[in-house]
Amino acid sequence: MGDYALPCFRLAKELRRKPPEIAQQLSEALLAQNSPWIEQAQVAGAFLNIHVVPGTLAQKLVPALRQDAHVSKLPAFLGKQPKVMIEYSQPNTHKVFHVGHMRNVALGDSLGRLYEACGYPVIMANYIGDEGAHIAKCLWYIEKQGAKVPSEGRGVWLGDMYVGADKALEAATPEELVQFQKEISLVLRDIESKAGPRYDFWRESRQWSLDDFNDIYQWIGARFDHVFCESEVSEESQKIVDEFLAKGVFVASDGAIGLDLKEEKLGFVIVRKSDGNTTYATKDLALAGRKFTQFAVEKSIYVVASEQNLHFKQVFRTLEKMGFAQAKNCFHLSYGMVVLPDGKMSSRKGNTITFSDLREKLSAELDKNLEKYRGEWPEEEIDRIRQRLAVGAIRYGMICSDPVKDIVFDLQDWLSFEGNTGPYLMYSYARTQSILRKAQEQNLSPSESDLTELRTPEERELLRFLNDLNPVILASCEQNKPSLLCHHLFDMCKVYNRLLANNSVLRAETEQLRGARLALLDAFSHALKAGLALLGIVPPERM
Ligand code: ARG
Repeated sequence: MGDYALPCFRLAKELRRKPPEIAQQLSEALLAQNSPWIEQAQVAGAFLNIHVVPGTLAQKLVPALRQDAHVSKLPAFLGKQPKVMIEYSQPNTHKVFHVGHMRNVALGDSLGRLYEACGYPVIMANYIGDEGAHIAKCLWYIEKQGAKVPSEGRGVWLGDMYVGADKALEAATPEELVQFQKEISLVLRDIESKAGPRYDFWRESRQWSLDDFNDIYQWIGARFDHVFCESEVSEESQKIVDEFLAKGVFVASDGAIGLDLKEEKLGFVIVRKSDGNTTYATKDLALAGRKFTQFAVEKSIYVVASEQNLHFKQVFRTLEKMGFAQAKNCFHLSYGMVVLPDGKMSSRKGNTITFSDLREKLSAELDKNLEKYRGEWPEEEIDRIRQRLAVGAIRYGMICSDPVKDIVFDLQDWLSFEGNTGPYLMYSYARTQSILRKAQEQNLSPSESDLTELRTPEERELLRFLNDLNPVILASCEQNKPSLLCHHLFDMCKVYNRLLANNSVLRAETEQLRGARLALLDAFSHALKAGLALLGIVPPERM
């Protein structure tokens, strides 16, 4: 019932008075100040409802937004922040990169942008799964089949070989299975020996996957400041086992070594199996140690699917037992699955959508829309628009839902220009640019001298959305939820489009009002662009 409301229940306890009384007293005190900010301060039961003077708000916000001096003032306002590392993407080599993996990339990258906007020194990190049984399986299968390496699409081919290996193992008779497992362990041993033709082939093929990953990161615009690999921490992880076994933190049990966390319902965490190999968890201990010491990370975020919830609880608790004080500043940003409209994606069933398929589908769909501009707009610009729309649609679709929820990947839906989609937000931006261009053609320009003219319901509401942008950015960062910013931008665009439906801009009643509205539109477009940038989305200037 106002622009902002203050529920007075919380104060009642402390002040030992009834909430409506407190609201009444606050209202009188606020009004007595004759502040240029307060238009009304009404009491409604236990609430104090405040109406802000729109003109004052406009004078504060519109010039700052138009000079890009609003969102950018957050770091100075928030002060010194701890150094944070955001580890994200972390794909496994020799497996195909599919649509599901894009959710992690979109989430992690946007989170990094949000932290940076809030003044944190940020290191964006990757952690490549480049060793272990899945790779041995893949290389074993290639050898077994005598498969020929194709001249193109080698990363995807490796993924197919991995699936082939899985199928072969599934179809094997019990005797065959024993034999195959033996062969696979030999491949694994050869890779780990770090010499010989199998090791060489591992290195060579690993690079094919890495090249594919880099293409994908470039396409989507994801940044990595440092890349860790599982293969580089495995030696260290052996040392950690020895060191903390000697210190009595780890204990031997049934031939294995680990940490007993059964009392905390976290089970027995194995750090060295009876065959002498360390585990995925051990490598995470080594990795965390590096992050703390080599990079002096104060806050460490891991963007990883919810299937690994238990794993990270175990790792963080183990780090604590090992004496790392930073363990309590480790955070697992857990996220749900990406499912297809007809069910779960599974690389075995072959119903995944690979990145290359996705890129092609996106282009084909978007071309249907862009066709009409061919010949009219430069070819390069059309290519750029297509790219921005494609990336924006995917990024937005991947992060507009709360991270814990499963999401349905629906290309048609995500590409729609209506509803809660990336293209809708980008369209709202382009629409403003087109109005501003039209104004310029008619020699009309935005003016900041009569911002107090802005007072229709839609103008007021839009101003409030602009004012709330910074607090929402901060909340998205603090709660690790880019989805909060998505919702805010979506709602802001809805108000904006309503404003255009109900208020004339180029044909406003007076010249003053026209100038003020054009300035408001321009401020909106700067705010939207800045908000989208934090989601990794760059809107086209026209579309
Ligand atoms: N590569 C792993 C996987 O695909 C994810 C790694 C997550 N990060 C970590 N520090 N464990 O399951």
